[in-house]
Amino acid sequence: MHVRDLGGHSGCKIVLCELPDENVFVRKISSSIDYNKRLEIQAEKQKKFKSEYIKTPEILNSGMTDDSLFYFDMEYIRGITLAEYMNTIEIGKVREFAELIANNAISTETKNSSDSVKIFSNKIQSLKNTLASVNNDIIKTALEVLDKHNWSMFAKTACHGDLTLENIIVKNDQLYFIDFLDSFYDSWLMDIGAILQDIQTMWAYRFQDEVNINTIIRLIVFRDILMDKIKPVLGTSLNEVYYALLLKLVRIYPYTNDEKTRLFLNNKILSVLSIIAH
Ligand SMILES: Nc1ncnc2c1ncn2[C@@H]1O[C@H](COP(=O)(O)OP(=O)(O)OP(=O)(O)O)[C@@H](O)[C@H]1O
Ligand SMILES: [Mg+2]
Repeated sequence: MHVRDLGGHSGCKIVLCELPDENVFVRKISSSIDYNKRLEIQAEKQKKFKSEYIKTPEILNSGMTDDSLFYFDMEYIRGITLAEYMNTIEIGKVREFAELIANNAISTETKNSSDSVKIFSNKIQSLKNTLASVNNDIIKTALEVLDKHNWSMFAKTACHGDLTLENIIVKNDQLYFIDFLDSFYDSWLMDIGAILQDIQTMWAYRFQDEVNINTIIRLIVFRDILMDKIKPVLGTSLNEVYYALLLKLVRIYPYTNDEKTRLFLNNKILSVLSIIAH
């Protein structure tokens, strides 16, 4: 079997495997034994995912390596990530994709969500403890805003868990979700918060010295169409997705150890605080 590294940033190994009969598949291997359970949940989430708007690579197989690491095999999607496609995509396609993502999110069935307030409150409390020694007024204000917010609007639904532009592959104008994640709270509103992290704050492009103006315009169009599409569902509570985005950004802070990313986060958190305030 011929194997080629596909990269991936957060630890798991992702390899493209080619069999002698030229059949190819992707194998995702856990980064450590401790991570096995989370990758198993990811495979389960991917297996269960059903949508009339979006596809996901079919799971073909799963098992354990000789080093006791969990892995799963899936269909290889010969395409590019939506983050990369945003550099060349036509505006008409941006509209189509934004609508597909919005339709997929709002079509999820609501489960019992009576415990949302407690779960969010616990999460924010633990963030406050983690960030207690951080001497940064923007973070302090953000934590206060998050703490005071009433999270009861966050319905528990199926969700992706880490819906970034890098976790969406496009092939023949079909969108595929990959890299599902078990999150502390499953809600489509958190998925919108995650995608806003890329299309509102341009997180996926943070390492680029300069982002092409056309890409920026496409991201703005993407955001506007996405927000227009979910407006009828959320009505006057449309701002809820910006609370989800704020929580996403603050949650990155404890893992940030370079000054450039910290500055980036400060700026973006400040701008989200101002959207929420207005
Ligand atoms: N089924 C697939 N078909 C084609 N390309 C894939 C597939 N799965 C992963 N990739 C490529 O590999 C990259 C990394 O995969 P993935 O997002 O699952 O890992 P990651 O971001 O490193 O995740 P983790 O945080 O779980 O370690 C993707 O952005 C994509 O380019
Ligand atoms: Mg990924």
